[in-house]
Amino acid sequence: MEDLWTSFVKEFERKTPVSAKLFNRASHVLPGGNTRVTVFFKPYPIYAKRAQGSLITDVDGNERIDLINNFGPLILGHNHPRVVAAVKAQLENGEAFGSPTELEIKLAETICASSKCVERVVFCASGSEATLKAIRAARAFTGKKKVAKFEGVYNGSNDFVEVSVKPPAASLGSPESPNRVPDSVGIPDGVLDDILVLPWNDPVNAVKLINENKSELAAVIANPVGRINPPRNGFLEALRETTEKTGVLLVFDEVITGFRLARGGAQEYYGIKPDIAAYGKILGGGYPCGAMGASKEIMSMFDPTSSGQSPIPNPGTYNGHPVTLAAGLATLQELTDDVYSRLNSSGEYLRKKVQSIMNDFEIEGITSGVGSYNALVYFGINDDRSYRETCKSDKYLESVFSLGCINRGIFFLPGYCILSASLTQAEVNKTLDAMSEVLQLIASSEPKPAQPARIKQERKRSSAS
Ligand SMILES: Cc1ncc(COP(=O)(O)O)c(C=O)c1O
Repeated sequence: MEDLWTSFVKEFERKTPVSAKLFNRASHVLPGGNTRVTVFFKPYPIYAKRAQGSLITDVDGNERIDLINNFGPLILGHNHPRVVAAVKAQLENGEAFGSPTELEIKLAETICASSKCVERVVFCASGSEATLKAIRAARAFTGKKKVAKFEGVYNGSNDFVEVSVKPPAASLGSPESPNRVPDSVGIPDGVLDDILVLPWNDPVNAVKLINENKSELAAVIANPVGRINPPRNGFLEALRETTEKTGVLLVFDEVITGFRLARGGAQEYYGIKPDIAAYGKILGGGYPCGAMGASKEIMSMFDPTSSGQSPIPNPGTYNGHPVTLAAGLATLQELTDDVYSRLNSSGEYLRKKVQSIMNDFEIEGITSGVGSYNALVYFGINDDRSYRETCKSDKYLESVFSLGCINRGIFFLPGYCILSASLTQAEVNKTLDAMSEVLQLIASSEPKPAQPARIKQERKRSSAS
């Protein structure tokens, strides 16, 4: 009998012939037909035509509920009328200038007012540049050169953090001293020498490694929710305490969590004040954006009026781009407490319901996420503590689940289910119906997904009582 993946691929191919043709054409001019690896999936990506609110339509005319939202920026959904109006109004005045605009002051004021740690900001054009600048600032401020990052976590596309992002399980090394695994060829040994890899949600080993390296360590950079492994039992507190004691700067990579978990990002959500925060995504309201900020003292490293040591330059052509700033300001103005409460409860509701469907079908796995930011499902494991656990999830089932849902009008990719405030309860219900149908097919497919020990125990207990 045909396996589920093969039958889902056939169904996908029937529904997306124009995307298939475009992918084939792309392969003649883009490496492997691709220019953004995040959007690639097998057998080939869906080419987008247009989107509105929570719905996205592909070039074949298939409409789907969008649970990706361009990997995070579109917290209000597509083409929110206020954002579109702000962009149009800016375009009436011109798209970009070789001069600053008042917009950059307004957006910087908004960041300073919402963040626990930011008193001064610099803008750049992507989250990757923001983490790069955060690292440069930490090195310049402390006069130290090493940077610690967490195993299994993506902090952007630059050499200093493209280490141990998705290391194969066999390459991890011990949790006492995780290996530094370059993400690709081309990362020089000289860069690796200055990187320390820490285990996530493992306070004993992370604290020990920070202490052992404190004299050389400029910063620890952390995505406060791991990838996605919600912080446990005081892990962020332990990081804050140790970095503070050892004179190491704590950088929160808030590129995805900033303005998503709360107005004040993960800093507010978890009540931790880092030294530096890096932003992107939502801050630009759907347009290319990055920013990093910190205290006045740290940010003085960028001050071009300073008469001290040569400041860090921040010269990007697209820094503080007026269209981005206008879209970002319009987006942030819409993010009220009520919007956050709805977004966070939709995420929790979705995870709870999907978990209960999986339990009913006796599929081993767990749902994972924080607020509206979800990995959604890790198959075949029962612990999302860290990358060491979640890298063992069944990648085949993750792909089957995603493709099955894509065929049924629900768009998310393995590991990425990022909600927007435009999602209605009716759309959540439709999503759950499609997910339930696919999970039922998974449960009845061969070979059967293993039954989790936890569910077996629960069943034993309930049948005994
Ligand atoms: C946590 C985190 N940091 C940094 C980045 C890089 O941001 P950008 O894609 O804007 O360069 C991303 C992007 O997904 C991210 O999720």
